[in-house]
Amino acid sequence: ALVITPRARLIDLQGASVNDLLDHLRTAVGDAHVLTDGADVAAYVVDWTGVHAGQALAVVRPGSTSEVAAVVTACRAAGASVVPQGGNTGLVGGGVPDATGTQVVLSLGRMRTVREVDPVAGTITVDAGVVLADVQDAAAQAGRLFPMSLGSEGSCTIGGNLATNAGGTAVLRYGMTRELVLGLEVVLPDGRIWDGLRGLRKDNTGYDLTQLFVGSEGTLGIITGAVLRLFPATPRHATAWVAVADVAAAVALLGLAQQHAGAHLSTFEIANRQALELVLAHLPGASDPLAEPSDWYVLVELAGAQTDDGLDDALEAILTAAVEADLAADAAIAGSPAQRTALWALREGISEAQKVEGATLKHDVTLPINRLADWVAEIGPKMAATLEGVRPVTYGHVGDGNLHYNLSAPVGGDDDLRTAAADLSTAIYDSVAAGNGSISAEHGLGRTKAAAGASYKSAVEVDLMRAVKRALDPDGLMNPGVLLPLVGQS
Ligand code: FAD
Ligand code: MLT
Ligand code: ZN
Repeated sequence: ALVITPRARLIDLQGASVNDLLDHLRTAVGDAHVLTDGADVAAYVVDWTGVHAGQALAVVRPGSTSEVAAVVTACRAAGASVVPQGGNTGLVGGGVPDATGTQVVLSLGRMRTVREVDPVAGTITVDAGVVLADVQDAAAQAGRLFPMSLGSEGSCTIGGNLATNAGGTAVLRYGMTRELVLGLEVVLPDGRIWDGLRGLRKDNTGYDLTQLFVGSEGTLGIITGAVLRLFPATPRHATAWVAVADVAAAVALLGLAQQHAGAHLSTFEIANRQALELVLAHLPGASDPLAEPSDWYVLVELAGAQTDDGLDDALEAILTAAVEADLAADAAIAGSPAQRTALWALREGISEAQKVEGATLKHDVTLPINRLADWVAEIGPKMAATLEGVRPVTYGHVGDGNLHYNLSAPVGGDDDLRTAAADLSTAIYDSVAAGNGSISAEHGLGRTKAAAGASYKSAVEVDLMRAVKRALDPDGLMNPGVLLPLVGQS
């Protein structure tokens, strides 16, 4: 098998070769940036959820593309596998090492330079370790918009966003990360640097290598730089938190919003009452903007340029039509930037609130939008039959057909959720696959879903993916076990 198992690697790396590797790493990046001490590496070996925890041979923090290349070359010579890591906000365990203690975590955290902003070309060129919020700020300072928006934007990095093909709350209007990138710089598994940092809109000269690395989750190389697309700034907003009876009403409301707002529609997010209740319970300062509770809510936002005067009218037209069509019971419209922030906090606070509540089993699914309502109605009883008292916290990017069907444990039943996890997830994945959906809409497969991802693909598709992996990483040293299961484990 070309993909080497962690067990084989443990044997390779014993004795003097470990010390040789550490020496080479220190030479490559300087002593201070090779971390081996338990306390120093602690934050790099466990993920945001706390569910995925491993051990590292070392954490290495290169400061430049050439240092990344030197680290990869040293690891390759020693036969050590490499786990690239950005902000460590990934939700599928792809950015933390496995349990063997033989992997090198390569953190991009020191590579935070915004290399160039060109407002007229509509491009920004950045190091991979630049935090998403800093890219947004740099674009805003140039009078432009970098639209990607995630709850984790204060910590996640552009390299991680590209490696996971992140989604978020602006996909409806601007697309996934792969639609926001024009070129990449990548350190390949053999240590060579591919300079593909071209900001061209038009370039039909062969295979699209940039897109090959987008969504590759660190399994094909280390992204060190990127040219990203900028858009006209949208300083004006009209935002509402709308009470709807069910998912079918939310989907019908989406149709109305598209009709009345056209290209100004930028966000259309859903949350069930359980999600809101967790936010109200755990997020300091959060309050329900509506007088009466509702089973479901939609956060809808229109965004436009300084000259776009009609956004408030368009939002009002949407809500009036929704009430007339019996789709919406009530709505809170943001009357100030502070109120807008408060409505957004109800949506963006759900992940954190659910984590505070206790054990969580995450599912990030897409279905054809016209199947979503039936799917939610069908899957609920299956969950309850599998684990009594389990609490579906259902929310997400309904405008993209993407729901986070995240299960909270029954009250006081964290261990019960862990015991039932495999059965619950299998039931969800089977029903999503039967409905022509995807078991990972935006978070990727990571370690958590690598085996499931392969099992729901055709043999042809898995073969093609393995062929790409072998061509670029014949020794299987780049993030083994992530995205594709290790050979023998699928
Ligand atoms: P990491 O977690 O460090 O790594 C993620 C993966 O990318 C790993 O496989 C890693 O090996 C690889 N990787 C990282 N950097 C590089 C690199 N330079 N080169 C090659 N591979 C690399 N995701 C969404 O899509 N939509 C959301 O709405 C969303 N909301 C979130 C909200 C919260 C509160 C949290 C905690 C997470 C959320 N996420 C969301 C998930 C996460 O933020 C994204 O997956 C993000 O893109 C990860 O970026 P990161 O820099 O933290 O990557
Ligand atoms: C979000 O959209 O808030 C996240 O992607 C969902 C999650 O944390 O599961
Ligand atoms: Zn999401």
